[in-house]
Amino acid sequence: MSLLNAIDPVIAGLLSKEYERQQHTLSLIPSENIASEAVLEALGSVASNKYSEGYAGKRYYGGNEIIDQIESLAVERAKTLFGMEHANVQAYSGSPANQAVYLALLQPGDTVMGMALPAGGHLTHGWKVNFSGKIYKAVQYGVDEKGFLDYDAIASLALQEKPKMIICGATAYSRVIDFKRFREIADSVGAYLLADISHIAGLVVGGVHPSPAPYADVITTTTHKTLRGPRGAIIMCRTTELGTKIDKAIFPGLQGGPHNQTTAAIAVCLEEASQPSFQTYAKQIVENAQALASELTAHGFSLVTGGTDNHLLLVDLTNKGLTGQQAEDALNEVGIIANKNMIPGDPRSPFDPSGLRIGTPSITTRGLNSEDMKTLAKIIASVLENREDSSIIATAKKQVLDLCNRYPAYPR
Ligand SMILES: Cc1ncc(COP(=O)(O)O)c(C=O)c1O
Repeated sequence: MSLLNAIDPVIAGLLSKEYERQQHTLSLIPSENIASEAVLEALGSVASNKYSEGYAGKRYYGGNEIIDQIESLAVERAKTLFGMEHANVQAYSGSPANQAVYLALLQPGDTVMGMALPAGGHLTHGWKVNFSGKIYKAVQYGVDEKGFLDYDAIASLALQEKPKMIICGATAYSRVIDFKRFREIADSVGAYLLADISHIAGLVVGGVHPSPAPYADVITTTTHKTLRGPRGAIIMCRTTELGTKIDKAIFPGLQGGPHNQTTAAIAVCLEEASQPSFQTYAKQIVENAQALASELTAHGFSLVTGGTDNHLLLVDLTNKGLTGQQAEDALNEVGIIANKNMIPGDPRSPFDPSGLRIGTPSITTRGLNSEDMKTLAKIIASVLENREDSSIIATAKKQVLDLCNRYPAYPR
């Protein structure tokens, strides 16, 4: 960053500190990953200089011959990888992507049905403080007492409320989502089915989670979680008719010029995700999560649903006499970054809930394997059970640093 250093040493210094922070801590945040240097190069490219309102071949600005090729490649790669007929890669991120789907398919006041935030859903799935819960009549489904999606209860709620759109997909759910069953429920009431696979897109592409492609009318995904690309999003659907509506909702409905540097980086991440090595990566994410789940269980931790099928686990800390905030702080102290989270039926507040959400996408990118999960679980257990013991905390810090040095986020 020699140029940046010369022009703005303050920002250069802060970015350098953030780089060091990422190198010397382990992110267990399930929605984070480590994008490749190729993705970062595309993000920092001159594509950022160009205005391109519109779509390839139909722009409102001249000089888009090259950008058209970049965007068309990103679109084609997305369609091929996910097996959908139409793709839009312009949404600025996951929330605007979902917003565009609402705008395309619904009228204000229409009923939508999505997973409640405290049960593991996302804000944009109808939560009351979000546009989706304010502009639309949002009905929310949850999980059963063990934390599993209860498809019979979802089906009855749908019959009762007759939503125009059902949203499936989650932010904190550790089990396989049955997209076929959601399709049947949507069909029973003539609803659109939106599958928001932001969290599991990389697992879907990697063949370790079933794809919603045969069932969903629309699929949205962020590109920066398990898919390991830049911060961005893709909206996909199965018919040209829906595709036209979605394209119009993104531009001119919601956004102006697309972020072409992000589009280029999305194309790069899709190219990476189409390689056989990405399948190995996705498989390892799940193996690591399952290894971590069984090790933590052996250390006496209680997991919502008792385990995981995907990239994340939700730990209920109640039996350890800890809150999510205390656990997050204690782990942070030794360089393990995880996040507090509500658990189903949580009696505590979202600011200090009873759970901790742990994910393996980022550490798997670094190369940690199932064997390393034993070490990691041991560190987590020792820190959470001995928060006041400075020598145990010091040892844990060293062990985390050792893992970081063995598995650098970016080889120097
Ligand atoms: C399921 C789901 N959908 C949408 C989003 C929103 O993505 P963004 O934060 O990029 O707006 C998230 C982010 O965590 C998510 O988990």
